[in-house]
Amino acid sequence: PSICVLISGNGSNLQAMIDAIAAGKLEASIACVIANRADAYGLTRAKLADIPTHCLDHKAFDNRESYDQALMELIDQHQPDCIALAGFMRILTAEFVNHYAGRMFNIHPSLLPKYKGLHTHRQAIDNGDQEHGVSVHFVTPELDGGPVVIQSRVPVFADDTEEELAARVQEQERHIYPLVLQWFCKGRLVMSENAAIMDERRL
Ligand code: GRF
Repeated sequence: PSICVLISGNGSNLQAMIDAIAAGKLEASIACVIANRADAYGLTRAKLADIPTHCLDHKAFDNRESYDQALMELIDQHQPDCIALAGFMRILTAEFVNHYAGRMFNIHPSLLPKYKGLHTHRQAIDNGDQEHGVSVHFVTPELDGGPVVIQSRVPVFADDTEEELAARVQEQERHIYPLVLQWFCKGRLVMSENAAIMDERRL
């Protein structure tokens, strides 16, 4: 099975996938990495791993629909089995999302349904939460609203800065995203209506 990874920045989750594939823990290949920003460091990570890359700059498009259409065409040239959003900082049209229904994932740094959207670490601290975390979920047209597959929890300490908390969360991210992709690539995980279902017969 092959995965297309969409990024906008550092690409630590992409790196975790590359490392998991090299370690035999993720039995898949990365068909391509696409970024919407030329300066995304993840593009360098992909090149170092000999993975095809594309930069599709949203600023070159008039509107969201035309960008998403071009993105879809680019992805489909590679015929991936699934799409992994990994720090891809764009809202996607329902048409795009529905085209990949049941085979597109996102990683979101909160214990969904808490804190959809941006600045999740800041909100957890400001609200005095004692725990925070990260979720991997199937993507549906509702932003950060698709069925959650797995979550990892971390403690929030009284004197945490946003950066310290983010680092603690990211340490978990690199474990859970490759795991979910492995489950999916092994055919053990499906999206049904509004739930993520593990097929026990294939465990
Ligand atoms: C991660 O914190 C992820 O949860 C969020 O964006 C960040 C991406 O980091 N969706 P990286 O580019 O994978 O390092």
